Amino acid sequence: MYKIVKKEKLAPDIQRFFIAAPEVARAAKAGQFVILRLFEGGERFPLTIVSREAKEGLIEIVSQRVGKSTAELALLKTGDLIKDISGPLGQPSEIKRYGRVLVIGGGVGIAPLLPITRALKEAGNEIMAILGVRSKEMFFFEDEFKTISRKIYFTTDDGSLGRKGLVTDVLKMLIDEEEIQRVLAIGPVVMMKAVSNLTKKVNIPTTVSLNPIMVDGTGMCGACRCLINGKSRFACIHGPEFDGHQVDFNTLLRRQNMFLKEEKTALEGFKKKDSQ
Ligand code: FAD
Ligand code: FES
Ligand code: MG
Repeated sequence: MYKIVKKEKLAPDIQRFFIAAPEVARAAKAGQFVILRLFEGGERFPLTIVSREAKEGLIEIVSQRVGKSTAELALLKTGDLIKDISGPLGQPSEIKRYGRVLVIGGGVGIAPLLPITRALKEAGNEIMAILGVRSKEMFFFEDEFKTISRKIYFTTDDGSLGRKGLVTDVLKMLIDEEEIQRVLAIGPVVMMKAVSNLTKKVNIPTTVSLNPIMVDGTGMCGACRCLINGKSRFACIHGPEFDGHQVDFNTLLRRQNMFLKEEKTALEGFKKKDSQ
């Protein structure tokens, strides 16, 4: 059992949890994640390790409420216990001194972006950041990014903060104005696809962190299979980070949509049963 030591709201439907998980905290590196199971019989679902305090044995996770399991997590309070936490899982990020690195975060992707950005900064890179969300109240970690970035740009869909539009609008401008040695993008699949398409044209190496469905997190179930440079790869053990120019984003989008359809059908089945 793993105890929630602290819980905080970061934005509407986005919360952070500090959890006592000493073994995970000791071993975790930037870019890795855990798989949680909240209670016996509960669903397994992945969340990124945003930070860790090895001495205190704590890990920080950030969760956006999007469906059943994340809604169940959102209901837990400080002092409550989580049944299982497996990890750290996945390959750690490749941290090198690249020069000027542009990091791009969309929505809750801003959370997994932070630990990698911190590690890149510590390795001596100059950081520029673009953070994009729907509306200004959805921003979080702005101060954390401000302290490690030379320049930071905000975009919102509704123009309530920063530039109205998409992160790719700013990316296009920066590609023209700045020398950028590397791009790291984490967010919705369509955003990572658009970023990778743009940087491919101008040959800027680009890393993305993929978020396919994961179940076991150990390469056994096949749920997280992705096509990378025409080859099958399991995001849970070979990733989650991959070269954005080699990812088959269309297959990833198709698989995610398939899952959504199955969820909807299952939900309709439940509703039917309920009304009988
Ligand atoms: P559901 O209603 O079951 O599904 C809603 C959507 O969530 C689905 O359409 C699908 O896209 C995704 N999803 C559902 N089940 C899974 C699953 N088992 N594995 C992966 N995606 C799933 N979210 C965060 O808020 N913060 C994070 O730091 C974070 N890190 C992630 C790191 C990795 C490596 C991966 C693969 C995903 C990460 N996610 C993160 C996404 C998170 O796992 C899903 O939002 C969560 O599993 C949704 O579960 P649900 O039951 O609430 O929603
Ligand atoms: Fe099962 Fe990756 S989650 S193979
Ligand atoms: Mg679910």
